[in-house]
Amino acid sequence: MIFTVAIDGPAAAGKGTISRAVAEAFGFAHLDTGALYRAVGVKGGDPVEAARSLTPEDLSRDDLRSLEAGQAASRVAVIPEVRAALLDFQRRFARRDGGAVLDGRDIGTVICPEAEVKLFVTASADVRARRRWLELGGEAAPRALADVLAEVQERDARDMGRTDAPLRAAADAQVIDTSALTSAEAIAQAVALVAKALQR
Ligand code: CDP
Ligand code: CDP
Repeated sequence: MIFTVAIDGPAAAGKGTISRAVAEAFGFAHLDTGALYRAVGVKGGDPVEAARSLTPEDLSRDDLRSLEAGQAASRVAVIPEVRAALLDFQRRFARRDGGAVLDGRDIGTVICPEAEVKLFVTASADVRARRRWLELGGEAAPRALADVLAEVQERDARDMGRTDAPLRAAADAQVIDTSALTSAEAIAQAVALVAKALQR
């Protein structure tokens, strides 16, 4: 069965949380496409060369989730040749047999416009910054909440403002605003939408 769930949205909206849960609920494979850009960003050297030669080891580095890796990812993500080098792998993953969930910025618009389900997961910048700050340890975090908010806003602006595959909701995407939802509530909404599409 070919069935793709495309999940896009800004930083810390809850894409990963929803994607993992949907993949588990339906037995689909999951690809966190942000990890590809993060791995290119932290690898160093020529980003185009880095994108063309990504290895499983690059994708399992334990510094990929840092704020710095997120910034580095969004800087290399504006380079069309970097995006082109990562395209085929993502497209093949999306249409693999058995169902796939991909989360990122351009899954429903560029990677898999034919996806059976497209979700645009979003939340206010304040809520998203607070979530990232709590992940970093909250009051014990090495960064102030205001700094994390500035980082999130800078990255959103770069992702939405670039020419190649900017962050935006596909015209036929269903929006889930998680600002006032718990993770469990957001997951339940997404699972219900996927279940409905599978029945068609
Ligand atoms: O993948 P993305 O950056 O969009 O977000 P995430 O890593 O799934 O979620 C960021 C943080 O927000 C995690 O710590 C989640 O537990 C938390 N969270 C959420 O994902 N959804 C909610 N409705 C509430 C909190
Ligand atoms: O988890 P979070 O939403 O903070 O970030 P991510 O999904 O790991 O993505 C990191 C960065 O990679 C984003 O800010 C984008 O610049 C870039 N990215 C992209 O351009 N296209 C994608 N499909 C996924 C990520």
